[in-house]
Amino acid sequence: MQADHSSILIHSTSQLITLTPEAQRGEQLGNLGIIPDGALLIEDESITAVGKTVDLIRRFPRAERFDAGGKVVMPGFVDAHTHLVWAGDRAAEFEMRLEGKSYMEIMSAGGGIQASVNATRNARKSELYEQSHERAQEMLRYGTTSCEAKSGYGLNWDSEIKQLEVLLELNRACELEIHPTFLAAHAVPKEYTGRADEYVTLICNSMLPELKSWWERETSERELPFVDVFCEKGAFNLEQTERIFKAAKSLGFRLKIHADEFENLGGTRLAVNMKAISADHLVKTSAQEIRLLAESDTVAVALPCTPFGLNEAAYTPAREIIRQGGVLALASDLNPGTAWCGNMQFVIALACRAMQLTPAQAIAAATINAAAALGIQENTGSLQAGKQADLLVLQVEDYRHLAYRFGGNLVKDIFKKGKRVHFSE
Ligand code: NIG
Ligand code: FE
Repeated sequence: MQADHSSILIHSTSQLITLTPEAQRGEQLGNLGIIPDGALLIEDESITAVGKTVDLIRRFPRAERFDAGGKVVMPGFVDAHTHLVWAGDRAAEFEMRLEGKSYMEIMSAGGGIQASVNATRNARKSELYEQSHERAQEMLRYGTTSCEAKSGYGLNWDSEIKQLEVLLELNRACELEIHPTFLAAHAVPKEYTGRADEYVTLICNSMLPELKSWWERETSERELPFVDVFCEKGAFNLEQTERIFKAAKSLGFRLKIHADEFENLGGTRLAVNMKAISADHLVKTSAQEIRLLAESDTVAVALPCTPFGLNEAAYTPAREIIRQGGVLALASDLNPGTAWCGNMQFVIALACRAMQLTPAQAIAAATINAAAALGIQENTGSLQAGKQADLLVLQVEDYRHLAYRFGGNLVKDIFKKGKRVHFSE
């Protein structure tokens, strides 16, 4: 087929990192599907051909050309776990932690998540939008083309919906594609202190059914958001998590969990039993639960910026998850408490050091496997004909620089759904 003049041929890459169209399980992780001197054709929003530069130039001589200049071209990063929308900051708490207070001590004294809840409840929607928009643009600049983003700093109907509205507006206004998650079960709000079960009942009987109708009114064309629970001592126990999961599942929501970040309450087993799409954090997960995860389709999402941000020694046992046959993904956990970092290049660099992934494994975990954690692997996360043209042109010739270097930005050009992304300044 002859492409018309609206098509773009990206050619002369050093390495075209295509990956595989589906998630990479266990030891298969790290299959980058590299085409040396590769090229691809974009028509409208999609990739329509992938191959060697010489072949594609011969097949599509009239396509507009974009010279990758002998550099790496790869899929855009998928960030499978973020708390993108919040107001204010918690710099003072960071200093308290450096002086010896723990994250959970600060949270039980009314700081932590509750401090961000106060700021987010008090913020006008436009302020919340501005602050979150800046972070979304930064994520995009560092190469994230799709992400998940949670509510969870509202903890009442109006403020949770305010966060979801901001996410829907951001998704419409920016090239960053955002898949929202409802996380009213992020903490017990202060007005429910000592009455956590009542708050859980409110979530199950009122918020979730209302969310479903609200969502269907607002965005008829999109799938329902995910429902997530912070299953942790000081947040929601296993029984409360299960109640929320059952209510959410019966309404057709897909499930996610924050499990085993600080203590193991059995959340991973519950997530596997309830066929959650992903289980995230997994620092204190037992060997038996890792086996259960590996036998399931629940994606294990490691968030290395969180122990790094908290200056803790323990990370997700990623190599063990791979050895047992699990599907491992990486994400940033961008949030104001533990990890204010939406840079997936840093996540990759850190994952290689702190969890001993190879650069190839970390890249696959941050693209195709992260797409599986969001159920969007049919559209994105790898570069094959038929997928969205979500891709990055790097400033380097060898993909390993993404892990080898750290703290900077090796992304030169970004294409989202076939369009080149331009930043204002
Ligand atoms: O994933 N653990 C719960 N949620 C976040 C932290 C949120 C916060 O401290 O504001 C996390 O680490
Ligand atoms: Fe989180």
